[in-house]
Amino acid sequence: MAIDRIVDTSVHDDDSDEQIIEVTLRPQNFDEYIGQERLKKNLRLAIDAAKKRDEPMDHVLLYGPPGLGKTTMANVIANEMGAGFRITSGPAIEKAGDLASILTNLQDGDILFIDEIHRLGRAVEEVLYSAMEDFKLDIVIGKGPAARSIRLDLPKFTVIGATTRTGSLAAPLRDRFGHLHRLEFYTPDEIAAIITRASAILESEIKPESAALLSTRARLTPRIANRLLKRVRDYADVNGDGIIDTVMTTEALALMEVDELGLDPADRRMLTSIIETYGDRPVGLNTIAALTGDEATTIEDFYEPYLMQIGFIERTPRGRAVTQKAKRHLES
Ligand code: ADE
Repeated sequence: MAIDRIVDTSVHDDDSDEQIIEVTLRPQNFDEYIGQERLKKNLRLAIDAAKKRDEPMDHVLLYGPPGLGKTTMANVIANEMGAGFRITSGPAIEKAGDLASILTNLQDGDILFIDEIHRLGRAVEEVLYSAMEDFKLDIVIGKGPAARSIRLDLPKFTVIGATTRTGSLAAPLRDRFGHLHRLEFYTPDEIAAIITRASAILESEIKPESAALLSTRARLTPRIANRLLKRVRDYADVNGDGIIDTVMTTEALALMEVDELGLDPADRRMLTSIIETYGDRPVGLNTIAALTGDEATTIEDFYEPYLMQIGFIERTPRGRAVTQKAKRHLES
């Protein structure tokens, strides 16, 4: 996938500055975390109950489009529990042995965050089932007829899994989670509040009308909101007195080619080429991928959720269709 898109929701370290700032922009507890109110309410209850019983929390699965704060929320849960926080990811755990070494190094009460949990291999998943279920680790020592299995006790830990797609999670793994929660897109008001909070942390002055303007361009996604804010801040520092006002914001957005709805040239190109080639007819995901030169999973995880949220793409039994609303926007 092209990683030079301002609206890209994947985490990439093209900008080391970004990584450092991101850490400090991240809310650390529920009070600082803006939005996802229903989720916070549910999690608060689960955390209070676990604390009252002096037990670790049940395992949590967070799912939803990228950039909506799954990792941030996992970190907030660990802070609210007063628990240790260990981060890994599906693709990073290649062998059952990798998982065994992570699990045996945990402490009682730790939270193990597994990003992209749908990408765990089968063999690793199976070790994880029994570890999650009864905090036991079965390992086989030796090979052939001399092989024997031993069972190790593990500390009582909580897995927080994150995935963009619950559909590709094996059912037995999904069933091991006591809490399954979808992260929703944010409202423009919540995004504006996130931008205002971030600019205070960055010590940049932003006018309320600019925060409101930016909030309509950020695809209802905090990761994009913070990235847009940093680019507009650069623009205001270089072309003005550093204050982020309507003029600076409008000019910077035009430079980035982000339109009124937060679409960038790649989104517009994708929609236009579907319309030009297929008109009103639904198209399969792989056909769209062939048109844009992206992977089908990139279309599904990164482009599509927001385009569906704003009613520009519809899923039909025969594929994806571009809506009249999208056509009107592209013609305007
Ligand atoms: N920064 C990124 N996401 C945030 C959120 N949900 N609340 C506050 N600050 C954020």
